[in-house]
Amino acid sequence: MLAIAILAAGKGTRMKSRLPKVLHQIAGMSLLERLLKSCSQLNPERYLLIVGQKAEAVMEEMSHNKAIEFIQQKEQKGTGHAIQQLIPVLKDFKGELLVLNGDVPLIQPSTIKQLINKHHTNKADVTLLSAKVCNPEGYGRVECSQGNVVNRIIEERECNEKERQNNLINGGVYCFNWQKLTEILPKLTSKNNQNEIYITDTIAMLNKSMHLELDDPMEITGVNNRAEMAICEGDIQNHLRSYWMKKGVTFTDPSSCTISENCIFGCDVIIEPQTHIRGQCNIGEGCKLGPGTFIENSDLGKDVKVVYSVISNSKISNNVSVGPFAHLRPNTTVDNNCQIGNFVEIKNSNIGEGSKVNHLSYLGDAKIGEKVNIGAGTITANFDGAKKHPTFIGKESKTGANSVLVAPISIGTNVTIGAGSTLTKDVPDGALAVERSKQINKDDWQLPKKPHK
Ligand code: UD1
Ligand code: CA
Repeated sequence: MLAIAILAAGKGTRMKSRLPKVLHQIAGMSLLERLLKSCSQLNPERYLLIVGQKAEAVMEEMSHNKAIEFIQQKEQKGTGHAIQQLIPVLKDFKGELLVLNGDVPLIQPSTIKQLINKHHTNKADVTLLSAKVCNPEGYGRVECSQGNVVNRIIEERECNEKERQNNLINGGVYCFNWQKLTEILPKLTSKNNQNEIYITDTIAMLNKSMHLELDDPMEITGVNNRAEMAICEGDIQNHLRSYWMKKGVTFTDPSSCTISENCIFGCDVIIEPQTHIRGQCNIGEGCKLGPGTFIENSDLGKDVKVVYSVISNSKISNNVSVGPFAHLRPNTTVDNNCQIGNFVEIKNSNIGEGSKVNHLSYLGDAKIGEKVNIGAGTITANFDGAKKHPTFIGKESKTGANSVLVAPISIGTNVTIGAGSTLTKDVPDGALAVERSKQINKDDWQLPKKPHK
């Protein structure tokens, strides 16, 4: 039987943040979500999350995951104290307890499995992940004897000069035999330089402590501050981009682009420099995104081209071109073969197949039919100060330059609207609508002249 405990009660002081450390995001996923994802194939009997500092925020964020039991560590007296909170909770539990620090986001599922397997094979009391690193600063040092046996872990603050030179670090991921651990947990003390109860002190107290040394130390990088978070972000971005490049996506300048964990790309997508794709996105094959583009939580069909534009929570069908400098705001759908051009803003609207909104327009709460041409500078005046109102434009209609459509309003099919019109009334199918004052020309007009001094 397996129980998993994630330590997420700590202060996260070094993050200098209003947000609990484990809720900070890397490539669109919180540190905590990443850990849970890495553990997702383990099918544990119990899933325990130890919370303390800003517990409410952590619990709220994780409330969708019904498998998690939240354990309160009211005062944060150290990692050993955190695990002591499990003594009553796992009173009758028999089996292994996998303990993970909440701040090791890069750990791979296969590594965790390997750790548990090794622990079983060796019938150890505890097996922990370790790695040799260039700069061990901040980590506990793993002191070994032969055959992967660990004598003890010395926290950096307790190290003498020689011990500090040891570059084999503790990754903060442990597989314990729970019964052996419960016997010694009450004996842990805080007699150390930090006055904290260290989980790492159990290593010397247990009879058979072993370690699994990783080839790639990156996997056990701990996030204690924003600089370490940026290192992890860089690593994950590298992995995500290489993954998609192997699946047929081109990045012309990979390091200038970021994507999130939940983006899916078809083949032959080309991502140009300075393009960022966040949240949950589906990008169809043959799309060309960027340069200079931001897309979040949106679906794009095939062969969509987007240049220097922003698209949020929208759905775009096939063969559409967007930009430069267009802004598609939430709940916009654009059907096949449309053109959305320069300085166009669209919100909560549907643009029918083959329609063009090429220049300087705002469309809000609008439903535009097929093959409509929205003239330069067309604006839907959709807000009366209190409420939003809809605009309908039937298929094959054309709005003239600088038309203002005061909603609610319904424009029929095959309508032509004269340039500069401000329309407040519905227009029937096939009509020409013009609303302008008559032009006056005064012959031989001369500007008044200044009197001579
Ligand atoms: C810890 C280890 C160190 C190891 C490093 C790996 C100890 C004493 N030291 O140090 O050997 O090399 O991780 O990254 O364990 N937490 C609680 N309650 C507390 C204190 C901490 O839940 O009272 C949680 C934190 O939220 C965090 C985790 O435990 O997720 C680790 O705490 P942190 O303070 O980051 O430990 P390190 O100093 O990094
Ligand atoms: Ca840490």
